[in-house]
Amino acid sequence: MTALFETAVRVGAASRTTIDTPALVLDLDRFEHNVATMARFCRDAGLALRPHAKTHKSSTVARRQIAAGAIGIACATIEEAEVMVAAGLPGVLLTSPLVSDGKIARLAALLRQAADVMVVADDAGNVARLDAAAARIGRRLGVLVDLDLGQKRVGVPGIAEGVALARAIAAADNLRFAGVQTYAGHLQHVAGHAERAAATRAALDSARALVAALGEAGLPPAIVTGGGTGTFRIDARGGDDETGEGAWTSPLTELQPGSYVVMDAEYADIQFAQDADWPFVPALTVQVTVISTHVPGQVTTDGGSKAFSLDGPVPRIVGPLAGGAYAFAGDEYGRVGLPPGVAPPPLGSRIECIVPHCDPTIALYDEMVVVRGDAVVAVWPIDARGRRALPRVPPLR
Ligand SMILES: Cc1ncc(COP(=O)(O)O)c(C=O)c1O
Repeated sequence: MTALFETAVRVGAASRTTIDTPALVLDLDRFEHNVATMARFCRDAGLALRPHAKTHKSSTVARRQIAAGAIGIACATIEEAEVMVAAGLPGVLLTSPLVSDGKIARLAALLRQAADVMVVADDAGNVARLDAAAARIGRRLGVLVDLDLGQKRVGVPGIAEGVALARAIAAADNLRFAGVQTYAGHLQHVAGHAERAAATRAALDSARALVAALGEAGLPPAIVTGGGTGTFRIDARGGDDETGEGAWTSPLTELQPGSYVVMDAEYADIQFAQDADWPFVPALTVQVTVISTHVPGQVTTDGGSKAFSLDGPVPRIVGPLAGGAYAFAGDEYGRVGLPPGVAPPPLGSRIECIVPHCDPTIALYDEMVVVRGDAVVAVWPIDARGRRALPRVPPLR
């Protein structure tokens, strides 16, 4: 049976209530709304969009983002980048430094396949090694200076270091200074909008200072990329609208948000803006099954700590049991405290929960079951999940 035929059989035979659980369920109408909304927003704001594949790890999702107008795909890992390039997707940007020999070799192999692959860097030694790797395959690699906006994770710590690194990139024979990355991960989930807007504006002021200094150094960055789901409107519109503190223009030329495409309980919990609700809707649930009903006031499900990421809020139940309290009861078990006055659903009933934190939950699954209403219409592989410690080589005989 070919994979395509197998998928057709599974899709034809299945409805939302007959899939096997735990399963990741993508609501296509909601997903399409999110994809279109962010694409429209960026178009209207005059910004390019390079959505982050770290959220979905799926070339099928990425292809739809590109079809809606995205100029490329941001990737957190070399595995994600390899899958996106193999799928023929343009504008792959690696948003984390690659420093080991193995990863730099894999990046060079990607560059051979796709001349527009780019990577960020925050270290001159790393830049020299990227240069040597690009030299070996005879192509120029685009490298962006990563600027730390206060998260203290990766990135050059200041303006002088950023200019020095840009000079090193521009001076390297086999590299091209492609621009600046400035991602404020520590600000995405600041719960209050006013606080998030003020902090984002202050952080992006350092990005603007770097852009200005690079201009003075004769190295104006063509790309200034950053932003996420929590700050995308602030990143784009500037503090003028968001803080009431006067005119301010964003230094960014493009946004690289990830979570917006499916949303999650973590983002739903923060205040989007003073004047508006989230324009994105939760599109991804984990569906679990009631497997035991003996304890009064609760039912037990097949969705435990291997079915949901544990770093966010608890799974948020939607549908008839909305308001019920989800708790983990083991690796393969969940416990749902029934809302007052609600009778326990019969054995085998399905319960859907908005994912707590989308990225790490998706990374637990091999595929998403795609539904329109109750009909299963597709199965999309999460083809960039997992890690490879060694390059794929032909099996030894
Ligand atoms: C470098 C970078 N860019 C963009 C994003 C996307 O952020 P979000 O999922 O909040 O939109 C992330 C998320 O962790 C990230 O690490």
